[in-house]
Amino acid sequence: MGGMVNSLFHPRHLALVPAAGSGSRMGSGTPKQYLPLLGEPLLRHTLRALCEAPAIDRVYVVLSVGDQEWDRHDWSGLGPKLRPLFNGGASRADSVLNGLRVIGDEVAADDWVLVHDAARPCLAPWHIEKLVRTLAGCDVGGLLAVPVADTLKRADARGCAVETVPRDSLWQAQTPQMFRYQMLRRALESARDVTDEASAIEAAGLHPRLVAGDPTNLKVTFPLDLHLAEWILQHRES
Ligand code: C5P
Repeated sequence: MGGMVNSLFHPRHLALVPAAGSGSRMGSGTPKQYLPLLGEPLLRHTLRALCEAPAIDRVYVVLSVGDQEWDRHDWSGLGPKLRPLFNGGASRADSVLNGLRVIGDEVAADDWVLVHDAARPCLAPWHIEKLVRTLAGCDVGGLLAVPVADTLKRADARGCAVETVPRDSLWQAQTPQMFRYQMLRRALESARDVTDEASAIEAAGLHPRLVAGDPTNLKVTFPLDLHLAEWILQHRES
């Protein structure tokens, strides 16, 4: 796996965007990555942020096998870095692993892969720059994250608080999550039941670095999030 490419510009930074979800929590027939956001599909904002980043060499987007939407839009404006892959899986982790497998011949073992949720359209240039710069000399890799601000409660089956969980040292994980190609692929091959890449790396006994981002890099999950994302993008552009 990997190791096939001998790039002069080594290691490269490759983005991989799992976009094969159905987005059922949005309560909409359209998968959330294609919902309109400021007049274009949400996914287009996400892909634009990655395609325009000078540090990123290529952007793979993993779509579901039966994706009916991709070809209905014109993506050519995003430039030559973009590569759609129609091999999404049953879960986010499966989609990421399927993507990693299919690009195996085009990447080197120690190329960096930045896995980024399709559903995070407000990724800013400084988020990417800070992640790439902070992790440049790192053995393991890491992820954007935000320290938890709220007081946290553990609930019982009735929905009553049974415990207050100390929030010091707790972070909310975001994406991109940036790891070396071979390390990430091996970690995901052995730990399939994970909700992010960092958990797979942790299960392998390694400690991903937490790089402080900010809450504007939100994940669009519920209808309100779409309005928040719109507000964030509009205020950033003005
Ligand atoms: O549903 P959730 O918001 O956790 O999904 C996170 C990301 O994983 C989204 O970008 C979604 O499109 C992607 N995903 C995927 N394949 C799946 C499920 C989710 O690529 N089977």
